[in-house]
Amino acid sequence: MSRRAQFLEVLGIPAEWVLRQRAGGEPQALALPEAGEVATVDAPLSAAPAALAALAALAAPAAPAVSIAEAPPVAEAPVGAPAQAAAPTPPAEAPLTIDRAPAMPSLVPAGPEPGSAQVDREADIATMDWPALEAAVAGCTACGLCQTRTNTVFGVGDRQAEWMLIGEAPGENEDQQGEPFVGQAGKLLDNMLGALGLARGRNVFIANVLKCRPPGNRNPEPDEVAQCEPFLRRQIALVKPKVIVVLGRFAAQSLLRSTTPIGKLRGTVHTYEGIPVVVTYHPAYLLRTLTDKARAWEDLCLAREVHDRAGAGA
Ligand code: URA
Repeated sequence: MSRRAQFLEVLGIPAEWVLRQRAGGEPQALALPEAGEVATVDAPLSAAPAALAALAALAAPAAPAVSIAEAPPVAEAPVGAPAQAAAPTPPAEAPLTIDRAPAMPSLVPAGPEPGSAQVDREADIATMDWPALEAAVAGCTACGLCQTRTNTVFGVGDRQAEWMLIGEAPGENEDQQGEPFVGQAGKLLDNMLGALGLARGRNVFIANVLKCRPPGNRNPEPDEVAQCEPFLRRQIALVKPKVIVVLGRFAAQSLLRSTTPIGKLRGTVHTYEGIPVVVTYHPAYLLRTLTDKARAWEDLCLAREVHDRAGAGA
């Protein structure tokens, strides 16, 4: 079974995107789904660039290729400040459009007060190696979640991975087992990875924005995110992935310091600390929302394209 077929089977998608033919037989564009209809990209992963070109044309007919939106550098820029960090050098053969969007209001509070203990804490975390970071997460009491957690959930996978996947926070199963995405959503995530030719622990590192479970799976509080973010930032710096795939609205808005709806964050290549970021839906959401499953496939094709371009430029 092809990867595409595998992916579609996993997601339970009944209809497919097809390339419409012009009168002369030229492919015109990917057919858009009707309202409520589910559609898929009619291209195997190996043909993702072609599908992406068509998708990019759909998303922004006037733009030549994939666009990059820059997330504000978190430490330097207070919320509301314009983006400052440099974008990755676009590959020569297919220029990327860089959209230096101004920073949006954020779910995450602005950085700590200069000279505060939090500044020292963040500076300390920013120099940690893997064992020190793991120990710091395991012993963290920086927010109230430490009182209700069973285990911290550090993250799992290949620490030199080219791919990094970032979810929101541990749920009940993850809290029990100390590993991210081990419940139903995790099974779907594993299948999505398989469709990309990846596997948990093989060229992928999986982490969450929060390392502790919010009780009752409530939404994380801004202060909890602010306390935990230095851990994730350090994980990303240590892994140095070629591409980050952010899973779900919360993780996307936290990482990108944005309040833009996930539907608008998708389809654009953002950056975090100079690393390309692709946003897609959370697997738990995909489990219950058939109509957005095909879009997740588009997102993974985009991430694959970004990854492959990064490889070419490396
Ligand atoms: N949802 C997440 O975002 N992360 C997990 O680890 C599990 C469920």
